[in-house]
Amino acid sequence: TCSWLKGNITMYKYQNFWTTKHLIEGGILAQQNFKAEPSDVFLCSPPKTGTTWLKSLAFAIVTREKFDESTSPLLTKLVHECVPFLERQVAEIVAQRPNSGLPLIATHLPYSSLPESVAASNCKIVYIYRNAKDAIVSDYHFRREALKLDMEDAPFEGAVEEFCEGFSSYGPYWDHILGYWKASLERPERILFLKYEDLKRDPASNVKRLAEFIGHPFSDDEEKVGVVDNIVSLCSFENLSNLEVNKTGKPKGGTLENRLYYRKGKDGDWKNHFTDEMKERIDKLMDEKLSGTGLVLK
Ligand code: A3P
Repeated sequence: TCSWLKGNITMYKYQNFWTTKHLIEGGILAQQNFKAEPSDVFLCSPPKTGTTWLKSLAFAIVTREKFDESTSPLLTKLVHECVPFLERQVAEIVAQRPNSGLPLIATHLPYSSLPESVAASNCKIVYIYRNAKDAIVSDYHFRREALKLDMEDAPFEGAVEEFCEGFSSYGPYWDHILGYWKASLERPERILFLKYEDLKRDPASNVKRLAEFIGHPFSDDEEKVGVVDNIVSLCSFENLSNLEVNKTGKPKGGTLENRLYYRKGKDGDWKNHFTDEMKERIDKLMDEKLSGTGLVLK
């Protein structure tokens, strides 16, 4: 039980990662029932590392012939209603196969827990991750606000402590990243690694990389008329977070308010939360876990 959340969330360990019972059940159903197609594109991530942004960008890229920046469903619906999430919607996804019309499926499952057909089908995987300290801060506010707990009632030190123990949503965080990283070294043509910080710094070139990787590259003409920049602007934090649907809406049948997916959208908010000691602890831990892997988190 997450003690910093006053025991309001209980997580279980399944195949070496932690999450809620409901999501473990969804993951098991996916392992049993989901059959990947070679044309599928998996959008994978640990929670709070840019999933919402990646889903928006990938959706805008693959639907750009149908919709532009003034007609996109992203303007009127939360992106999580546009791109399905494997562990939550497996029955729906399976029922719509093979012609759902959209190749995108998102998941937080670690690489080693993906349905076996994902590796076997050779479909594309895009992985987004983020520096650990901002991921901790983002998750802290997301879960605290989802439970309507004030900051005084949800000690931040507790969230840092549990993260270090590997007890975070779909954690250990480092194992999540390393699982996909190792798979990407073996199959670089199949797994694209994106970093939230890189996307922030240079969205246009990362959007081009993403489009090319998922088989929807921009033509020279499209680039000339500004299609890449339009997608970047459509999916920017400033644009999406200010839409009525994302400020006040709730997903159908869901309990979490849409606004919880849009908090600050910045690189480095950890500086407003971490003591020097906490910073050193996380930096040291991540260095230890990632040393020798060729992966740098910042
Ligand atoms: P912060 O809490 O630091 O603001 P996820 O989508 O994986 O749940 O991650 C949520 C984080 O991504 C939140 O970070 C959220 O504000 C940020 N985010 C959501 N949409 C974004 C966008 N279009 N551009 C940049 N950041 C975005």
